[in-house]
Amino acid sequence: MLVIKNGRVIDPATNTDAPRDILIDGDKIAEVAQPGSLHAVPGAEVFDAAGLIVAPGFIDLHAHLREPGQESSETIETGTRAAARGGFTAVCCMPNTRPVNDNASVTRFILDRAKATGSVRVWPIGAASVGSKGEAISEIAGMKEAGIVAVSDDGKPIATAKLARQVMDYCRSLDLPVIEHAEDVSLAAGALMREGVTSTRLGLRGMPAAAEAVCVARDVQLAKLTGARLHIAHLSAKDSLEQVHWAKALGLGVTCEVTPHHFTLMDEDVTYDSRFKMNPPLAAREDRKALLEGLADGTVDAIATDHAPHEPALKDVEFDRAPFGILGFETALALALEQLVHRGRVSLTRLVELFTTGPARVLQVARRIWPGQPADLTIFSFDSPWTYNVQESPSKSRNSPFDGRKFKGGPVATIVAGRVIYRAN
Ligand code: DOR
Ligand code: ZN
Repeated sequence: MLVIKNGRVIDPATNTDAPRDILIDGDKIAEVAQPGSLHAVPGAEVFDAAGLIVAPGFIDLHAHLREPGQESSETIETGTRAAARGGFTAVCCMPNTRPVNDNASVTRFILDRAKATGSVRVWPIGAASVGSKGEAISEIAGMKEAGIVAVSDDGKPIATAKLARQVMDYCRSLDLPVIEHAEDVSLAAGALMREGVTSTRLGLRGMPAAAEAVCVARDVQLAKLTGARLHIAHLSAKDSLEQVHWAKALGLGVTCEVTPHHFTLMDEDVTYDSRFKMNPPLAAREDRKALLEGLADGTVDAIATDHAPHEPALKDVEFDRAPFGILGFETALALALEQLVHRGRVSLTRLVELFTTGPARVLQVARRIWPGQPADLTIFSFDSPWTYNVQESPSKSRNSPFDGRKFKGGPVATIVAGRVIYRAN
């Protein structure tokens, strides 16, 4: 038994923002009570959360754990330890491993490794096409039986409208969301960053915002045609957000996520340092402004990290030779506090929603602090100062542009199935 005392409980699902004590029995929440009103439970461990916020367990819809196949960059063990430090209790892992997670045996391997070595829950995403090659549809039903929560060819878009339609039709009947890495590869070919004044100044080939937005438009039309649930991954452009807004107004099952790097940085921040290289690339000033508005007004459903570890030997090379992607777990909450809450753009409840009920709705799973629910909780500080030092990360990789950044507020403890799996200090 574990009692979490004196915390400020913020739970968008139950409309709670109040002091509460929480009793955990085994892997479930047993009671949520007024402070001081829980009966003394003999032998129960006590966690004093005075001055801290207690939220439902954070869900990351988008991460790369690199196992199987690229274990020198990350493993399920190291990746989920980094996730726990970031306050995440569940992470959805993208299928672009080696081999690609395009069949039930790879899905089962990932879940077995997660059970044996993982700190947080791992929810695999299956590939939409065999090898994510964009040719033949993958064995989606078999993977669903094995435990996938969604389908995506992330790293690339689903190659053609015809295949995307087929995948959506199939996923609709299986009630799985289709997660799209929206990119028109003909417009993005050879690009290293967003097209604009900065790409011209640096002499790096750029892709226009339309490379993303035309693919979002294609998929929104296909969601309309098929009735599928469509989720746009790492949305970075204003024009894409307008497509999502339009789809929502039409009542389609279309949702989207935004990453902390896209709402914090812009193409103007890019230097020849490969830690500023990711896909989609950092966008224009007006895009960032639109993302911040969408995060505030509800158009954006979730904050997702796109945690994309690449070992130093691969990433610490010339900008054009480096792979796309940056670490995300450990700085996500602190960047959201910095950009969204401390600057008065969104309420704390909305911030919590973007990490909990928002992603839960995309996956259609429950996420609330209530008796009988799984005891997954994220405890965080609103304003205590700390500095991110990537050298201390459990991740095997070091590719963060936020190394050395000073923050106010961040994860303090992560509880999964009733166990404190991470606690600061
Ligand atoms: O930056 C990225 N990294 N974008 C992607 O789409 C793939 C990811 C990766 O796997 O490294
Ligand atoms: Zn992607």
